[in-house]
Amino acid sequence: MSLRSFPEDLTANVRWLRIAGAAAVLLVIAGCSPPSAAPIASASTHRPRDMASYANTDAFVTRHLSLDLTADFDKRTLAGTAELRFDRRDPGAQEIVLDTRELQIQKAEASSDGGTWTSTTYRLDPATAAFGSALRVVVPQGADRLRITYASSPSARGLQWLLPEQTSGKKHPFLFSQAQAIHARSFIPLQDTPGVRMTYDATIRVPKDLVAVMAAEAKPSEKGSGIFSFHMPQPIPSYLIALAIGDLAFKPMSERTGVWAEPTTVAAAAKEFEDTEQMIKTTEALYGPYRWGRYDLLVLPPSFPFGGMENPRVTFATPTVIVGDKSLVALVAHELAHSWSGNLVTNATWGDFWLNEGFTTYLERRIVEQVYGRRLADMERIIGLRDLAQARADLSVPRDRSLLPDLAGRDPDDAYSVVPYEQGALFLSFLESKFGRGAFDAFLRRWFDEHAFESVTTAQFLEFLSTHLLSTKPGAVTDAQIQEWLNSEGIPPFAVMPKSDALEKVEQARDAWLKGGSVDTLAATASAWSTQEWVHFIDSLPRKLDAKQLEALDRRLELTASPNAEIAHVWFRLAIANGYKTAFPAMERYMISIGRRKLIVPLYRDLTATPEGKSLAKQIYTKARPGYHPMAQGTVDGLLK
Ligand code: BES
Ligand code: ZN
Repeated sequence: MSLRSFPEDLTANVRWLRIAGAAAVLLVIAGCSPPSAAPIASASTHRPRDMASYANTDAFVTRHLSLDLTADFDKRTLAGTAELRFDRRDPGAQEIVLDTRELQIQKAEASSDGGTWTSTTYRLDPATAAFGSALRVVVPQGADRLRITYASSPSARGLQWLLPEQTSGKKHPFLFSQAQAIHARSFIPLQDTPGVRMTYDATIRVPKDLVAVMAAEAKPSEKGSGIFSFHMPQPIPSYLIALAIGDLAFKPMSERTGVWAEPTTVAAAAKEFEDTEQMIKTTEALYGPYRWGRYDLLVLPPSFPFGGMENPRVTFATPTVIVGDKSLVALVAHELAHSWSGNLVTNATWGDFWLNEGFTTYLERRIVEQVYGRRLADMERIIGLRDLAQARADLSVPRDRSLLPDLAGRDPDDAYSVVPYEQGALFLSFLESKFGRGAFDAFLRRWFDEHAFESVTTAQFLEFLSTHLLSTKPGAVTDAQIQEWLNSEGIPPFAVMPKSDALEKVEQARDAWLKGGSVDTLAATASAWSTQEWVHFIDSLPRKLDAKQLEALDRRLELTASPNAEIAHVWFRLAIANGYKTAFPAMERYMISIGRRKLIVPLYRDLTATPEGKSLAKQIYTKARPGYHPMAQGTVDGLLK
């Protein structure tokens, strides 16, 4: 059995990429040797190991997973069996290593035909905070299947168990999973790396009055039996396994799209997301067929810690984007785009995350542009730029400000920011401008087609870029520019920057008001503003305003009472910066009722800037924490400690 150390490996890969010129990207360091001693091979045959997984994928690779799990809402456990069928890559290997976190392992069995099972020995290593525990299971000669009997922990990081009062119907409990980046291991023992793809099937047993939905094809089930069966025929990485259980209703939107939500929300959600079919057609025209069958959306209770999660066939989404005017449906464009960039062509390791999110952010804005027009797309691009600058300022590890963070020994969540999203999208926009939209679209489509259902590295992308795009116009883009896009901790000076006339008009209205213009004139202009214009207005105000100005704004524009979670968010940040206490009770209700990290974490962070703010933050958090997802709890715990 080979033991390797996390830090050296990844550092070597990252450092190597950082010094490699575009011509050298054909060469990738394979496996666990230091770079100087490593065999040099082509990118398609050898890849760096995923430092966030214990899995010995050089010996065994999972091909299929079968789950049979029971959801127990009293104990807060998922319990049952996970059966893994794998290919053997190393004929001599005697042990498979799986990822787990806080799992109770009861039994391990092996089989060579799926018919007869024999007990086999296993050992659970001590846990590390970043990666959990390696589960080492002896694989007898000839065996190609394992069956693990286990239960998840009530505090599993990838699951949130909600009480009925945390749902909108208030009558039934709710459970949802969130596996990205490395949380599948907290509810399934498996090779938890995006470099391994598997098909799966699942039987999920739930209380009889609840409905289970997985990011997979539903098989017919007997109504009221509490037993739901699923099948995922396309091979997917572990982070895309997803499950939700609750009082869920379904409303179709088109032949292949629909919405799952609690009965109280499903109609509003279907209205808000009614353009989804048009988005799919648009994306297909640009980047090739949608390869996953159905595309549904599942609206979660407000504690969902993300805006959206691109679970295949069914995007999980926050209810905070349902505002009645479709102004926040770029989120659907984003999660849908992942059906190409991410789910179809997947980052091989979390160090290549920008290949998922940067491509998706670029695609998202192209879809928005096509379906809703250039005006909205450009506003989104400008707001993205501002988020990028803010994120860079907030990051404490300098290299996290680049597209190639050093994740050695770190939970990938700890490096999470919008940098890979926005810097990645700017990089692709730059390439688009140099080669023209037509050529660049064809290039991206080819990238998706030729790497469909594969996991890819940054080195592979650079090789493909060099062969299929850069070579078509020698000298248009230099190797040094490519390296700067990947390694720079800021926006390269030669970037092609977006521009938004609409947001410039907002700035003019802002300036007129700041120079003493009447709040009524401002209000008249603002009455036609969309969410994006409001957000830009508030976020681009000077951080210090006098109390009279704030009060006038609030009285006339009713910002403290805004039902729009994005507008309220930027307003509360301004209120904190100014100690504007009138807004605090509404802010407290907001922070207790919403668990989306992007909306709440900046508020806690801003509050910690002053001693009074910090004590208010702690007071609010005491009430809010029980309703937060374990991932949100982890983030806020870290801020307030
Ligand atoms: N895949 C991400 C969410 C994610 C990333 C979960 C990393 C866990 C780890 C998803 O596609 C995403 O980016 N969601 C955004 C919304 C989007 C419109 C930018 C979010 O949740 O804010
Ligand atoms: Zn995304």
